[in-house]
Amino acid sequence: MATRQATVRAFAKLNLSLLVLGKRADGYHELRTVFQSISLADRIRLAWTPGARWSVEAEPEIANNLAVRAAEVLRDLTGLRGHLAIGIEKHIPMGGGLGGGSSNAAAVLLALPVLAGIRIPFNELLGLATAIGSDVPYFLQGGTVLAAGRGQEMYPIATPKERSAVVVTPAVSVSTPEAFGVLKRGSVDSLTFTELSNKISNLRVMIGALNVSPGPDWRGFSENDFESVVFERHPQLGLIREKLERAGAAPARMSGSGSTLFGVFESKVAQRRALKALKGESARAVNLVSSREYRSAWSRALSEHKVGTEWPPRSRYGSSK
Ligand code: C5P
Repeated sequence: MATRQATVRAFAKLNLSLLVLGKRADGYHELRTVFQSISLADRIRLAWTPGARWSVEAEPEIANNLAVRAAEVLRDLTGLRGHLAIGIEKHIPMGGGLGGGSSNAAAVLLALPVLAGIRIPFNELLGLATAIGSDVPYFLQGGTVLAAGRGQEMYPIATPKERSAVVVTPAVSVSTPEAFGVLKRGSVDSLTFTELSNKISNLRVMIGALNVSPGPDWRGFSENDFESVVFERHPQLGLIREKLERAGAAPARMSGSGSTLFGVFESKVAQRRALKALKGESARAVNLVSSREYRSAWSRALSEHKVGTEWPPRSRYGSSK
């Protein structure tokens, strides 16, 4: 049968706010975070040729490529047979707290069923995503999302009206498991209701403010629990955050466990001015992407192969599941 192809954009994310509440019985940490899609994206070319045997190839070679993992978990669930070629044009720096690998995985979970003509209920896709990595479910949703648990419980919220941001990606690599380790959080079950309430009070105010239009200012309530421990080890990251602040960013934060720093700006003019002030750092301008924009980018990329307007995109080819 003929090869079906699509080129999709796998957007990066920022954590507009990130709280680590405590350790869970399963060894992961209980989080509260606000995920935000940004225009920085990898381009992923997928070519699917139905056949009698399963094979997958990916270019360039990336160790522990989550896009390949995603294809394999889909195969395991559905018994899919054929050849998948994945070509990734990388723009999202790896290991920087921008979720590049997770976004690539989610892109395959969204696109391959459409190309291969299989239908998987969204809840099942979310289950597959969670098995691949804690941030993967978010990329099946996109836009601005409050996430709880390991990140898989999601509540869409309104996207900030300030859409201009600057992202700085220093040449410092921070190991996520190590960053969780140095936080030395106790068991989440030992937190009292009052402790929990105090920890998340700023986040509650921030979400309340975002969800009211025109609302109070959300920007002073953003936090990232990793900043103090990561800045202690890598003081240059704290200095970049200060530079962003001096350039007018509100908030200026680290994303995930780093090492990416970002600043949100009120206008394109302020964003451009900040880019100039950060000359010499690897800084780039990005836009915040809303859930609607995220989904319409996906719809356009898969338009040849999908029917209807539902989410996740639905294949126009015969369904074997
Ligand atoms: O889920 P993922 O494979 O992306 O997580 C990588 C590592 O980060 C985990 O093995 C764990 O050490 C840590 N982690 C955590 N709590 C989370 C997410 C990740 O402790 N909610």
